[in-house]
Amino acid sequence: MSDQQRPELKRLFMETYGCQMNVYDSERMRDVLTPLGYAITEKPDDADLVILNTCHIREKATEKVYSEIGRLRAHKERRASEGKGMTIAIAGCVAQAEGEEIIARAPAVDLVVGPQAYHKLPELIARAARKTGERLAADFTAQEKFDALPARAPDGVTAFLSIQEGCDKFCTFCVVPYTRGAEYSRPLADVVAEARGLADRGVREITLLGQNVNAYHGESRGGVASFAELLNVLAQIDGVERLRYTTSHPIEMTDELIALHGAEPKLMPYLHLPVQSGSDRILKAMNRKHDGAFYRDIVARLRAARPDIALSTDFIVGFPGEKAREFEETMQLVRDVNFVSAFSFKYSARPGTPAAAMMGQVSEEEKSERLARLQALLAEQQRAFNGSQVERVLPVLVTGDGRKAGQKHGRTPYLQAVHFEDTKAQNGDIVPVRILAASQNSLTGARLEMAPEAA
Ligand code: 5AD
Ligand code: SF4
Repeated sequence: MSDQQRPELKRLFMETYGCQMNVYDSERMRDVLTPLGYAITEKPDDADLVILNTCHIREKATEKVYSEIGRLRAHKERRASEGKGMTIAIAGCVAQAEGEEIIARAPAVDLVVGPQAYHKLPELIARAARKTGERLAADFTAQEKFDALPARAPDGVTAFLSIQEGCDKFCTFCVVPYTRGAEYSRPLADVVAEARGLADRGVREITLLGQNVNAYHGESRGGVASFAELLNVLAQIDGVERLRYTTSHPIEMTDELIALHGAEPKLMPYLHLPVQSGSDRILKAMNRKHDGAFYRDIVARLRAARPDIALSTDFIVGFPGEKAREFEETMQLVRDVNFVSAFSFKYSARPGTPAAAMMGQVSEEEKSERLARLQALLAEQQRAFNGSQVERVLPVLVTGDGRKAGQKHGRTPYLQAVHFEDTKAQNGDIVPVRILAASQNSLTGARLEMAPEAA
């Protein structure tokens, strides 16, 4: 490209809230904007374009967006006084759910764009910069979005790959079916082509993403491929050494998928399987379509297939009508299953969802007390699991340099972060590491020298 053709450098500041789906979407938005001359800046003060990729799943996330817009407005006004512009775009699920309200409440915002329309960003930003006051409600199909996004440029040896979007489950507390729309699975051939591309660029570990990833049912040669079939195909790609997926629904854990956890060594022994509650009455009110016994049975079958599988989950405490003894059933489920990590939240009423209108909303004080007890138990289990790895030798995928000279960091099969002494390993290698110490959130260790081969 000659200098005349090279687009002028523009600064892009992006903030990502919420789930891994959003982290992935932010990377894709950056990929769309890079050819237009946008480069990431770490500070919003000097940005030509700011994108807040928002999350609507819990209340606090929405509030944070509005206070961030307030801070950005000051930068925008200062830049305007210097004769420079700043386009502020709100993306993600808050944009999708509250488009009109954002425009009314936050005049500093130029553009609101929902998750299905990111491939249109260049055009939308150009229009917004021309001050036509244009904004967009996401009325594109998911397929159109995937087809229109450019090829990936991964920066490391691990990558997310989105295979499915949306959700038809309609849990009564959740906005996802409204903000992300109906379930859509990408065709198998498209997913495989993207995975091959990632492997060619040095990616060794792929995490398949979707709101209901194990509900995947992508078109394949005129038929439909199941999630287990997709995993089988991906496991055959040279260079892809590790496969993971998130986030799953218990009712989609088919026999075939459970068996694959025992049969396919590339499928890592770690699974995030949200349960939400241990009370059958609450699970029913949540419209989860499974009860505690069903969840325990899946766990038992997964452990029979892959005895060392590490389980992680999500909980909501203080769902409307949750009695003290029903919360105790959640505590009991935690003791019975033993999780290695978990996300737990106070229930927050999302406008328009059935649970928001239910009787018996639980007080903030009660929710906080329950959450603190639950999190203390979960933290204890996490520490115990990490501690149980000390003295073990684990195969660690090297992901980068460590904090200190002579150190690397990487990931164990159980998704634990590990810092270890090593000077030789390259990113992407899988090396044996003896674990020497553990904390609640990470491990430290030393690379084990392999015995030299007999001459
Ligand atoms: N209140 C609290 N937590 C929620 N989640 C989803 N909706 C709500 C809500 N209204 C949690 C669930 C879900 C995770 C992504 O967010 O635990 O699994
Ligand atoms: Fe929300 Fe339930 Fe769908 Fe998960 S399965 S995205 S919690 S509606």
